Amino acid sequence: MSKVTTLNEFILEGQAAHSFATGELTRILNDIAVASKIVSRDVRRAGLVDHILGAQGNTNVQGEEQQKLDVVADEQFIKAFEYGGEVCGIASEENDDFVAFQSETSKNGKYVVLFDPLDGSSNIDVNVSIGTIFSIYKRVSTIGEEATFEDMIQMGNQQVAAGYVLYGSSTMLVYTTGDGVNGFTLDPSIGEFCLSHPNMKMPVKGRLYAMNEGNINICEEGLRDYIAYCQSSENDYQAPYSGRYIGSLVADFHRNMIKGGIYIYPETTTAPEGRLRLLYECNPLAFIAEQAGGLATTGRKRIMDIQPQQLHERVPFYIGSKNMVEKAMSCIAAKN
Ligand code: AHG
Ligand code: MN
Ligand code: MN
Repeated sequence: MSKVTTLNEFILEGQAAHSFATGELTRILNDIAVASKIVSRDVRRAGLVDHILGAQGNTNVQGEEQQKLDVVADEQFIKAFEYGGEVCGIASEENDDFVAFQSETSKNGKYVVLFDPLDGSSNIDVNVSIGTIFSIYKRVSTIGEEATFEDMIQMGNQQVAAGYVLYGSSTMLVYTTGDGVNGFTLDPSIGEFCLSHPNMKMPVKGRLYAMNEGNINICEEGLRDYIAYCQSSENDYQAPYSGRYIGSLVADFHRNMIKGGIYIYPETTTAPEGRLRLLYECNPLAFIAEQAGGLATTGRKRIMDIQPQQLHERVPFYIGSKNMVEKAMSCIAAKN
């Protein structure tokens, strides 16, 4: 029997291998692991909390109001970062503005974290996989002062680490620090994330496509051509691809990471920038995709080279196996 490597051990080994690593990033990743174990536990009880406790008047045993799970997750991660001491501020999907932590320890923190605490939250009520996505940057403002807007709107190519947690049939944490991608599965019996998917690589091609095809008539013609190519018997597999759309970006992305595939959330006539948010959905997954040999673009240009202007800005998103994203981009280019 080979020895299990826990996330903790793995992160520490990574730190030892890089002389520039100071231990702060290590502690942030550990904070994320702890917070995500707590969220995982809450997610696993989602139906009970909503339907049993909720039925008794929306208050729990302590008399607190039941909160939506995405707010619960948001608070859990914020708490982890605020009290961890390495992070000077955060931005999250659940907060209109970024949060600059006020304690002296936090003001001395060198990093900011941007995150989507619960992705795919419309799937909670129907017991379908959901996730968390996070992105870590070095601050650009002065250490010792409050975090600023400029710390938050850095280009994706400046990320020092990014990852996601998938609350699926098991709970997994997948992350990169720019040196490949590694995946860890939570063993609930010991409460540890254990290395289960070392050095993850996304297949260069695949035959799974994920798009909300309800939008097919309101997306651009080049994309309609690409979807027709996926469905055709004259494509690179000489047989129609399979359509797979969970409606949880993390789950759709993770499946494509392992099996090979493409995920598309395009611009449409009703949502000209698409739906997904650049800072805490697209950039972190783009970093992981590229580290695993995949690609992430808007259909026209690289996601990680976009200069963000706003915290919650949206971008069209094409992510997945390299050959598939390139083919989709060539279909779009052909109609422009
Ligand atoms: P969130 O739950 O964080 O708001 O994100 C939902 C996202 C993403 O997870 C999913 O792929 C997409 O929205 C689904 O959108 P549609 O229902 O428009 O397909
Ligand atoms: Mn989301
Ligand atoms: Mn969300």
